[in-house]
Amino acid sequence: MAAPDLPPGYALCRATLLDLRALHRLERVIFPRDAYPYFELALLFLVPRIINLKIVAPDGSLAGFVSASRGLSYERGWIITLGVAPAHQRRGLGTALLTAVETRLKRPFVRLTVRESNLPAIRLYQRVGYTVVGRHPAYYRDGETGLIMEKRLSVNS
Ligand SMILES: CC(C)(COP(=O)(O)OP(=O)(O)OC[C@H]1O[C@@H](n2cnc3c(N)ncnc32)[C@H](O)[C@@H]1OP(=O)(O)O)[C@@H](O)C(=O)NCCC(=O)NCCS
Repeated sequence: MAAPDLPPGYALCRATLLDLRALHRLERVIFPRDAYPYFELALLFLVPRIINLKIVAPDGSLAGFVSASRGLSYERGWIITLGVAPAHQRRGLGTALLTAVETRLKRPFVRLTVRESNLPAIRLYQRVGYTVVGRHPAYYRDGETGLIMEKRLSVNS
């Protein structure tokens, strides 16, 4: 798999059902309010047209994960979830996961939804070319607004 820039010892590769338990643990740490239930995470690996990538840390643990759907149209893919374990953040892993999954989506556009208070994620998305294209009031269970962000991808990517 083409390797984006990663710190030494980290490896990016496809995630599988074998990663489900570690992914569930990671989700509960980084999304205290929004973690997907175990069963819904399992679906990521069972439903077609979903791309799941992970970064493995030098000690073999799950450092980060991204899941994206090619969707039903050829127009647009969606990032479903993106997360990097706290001990591995600010080393470029989030950027690497996003870039890698965008390349594999092979769609002209990609979208995602992010809490409007999630400034670290919004900064990351803006930095790699996403802009806000919509707002979804009360998108989250606690009533917070979701920002819809979009990036135009190279058609040849
Ligand atoms: C958002 C997240 C995926 C970023 O992962 P990461 O590996 O730390 O991101 P990167 O190292 O690639 O950061 C790239 C840039 O994003 C911005 N950024 C990332 N984390 C940031 C933070 N805590 N505060 C401010 N800016 C931040 C910075 O501009 C950063 O560049 P810099 O480190 O050179 O300043 C990670 O913080 C995370 O998993 N958060 C919890 C889950 C989450 O919110 N996921 C997104 C849901 S939509």
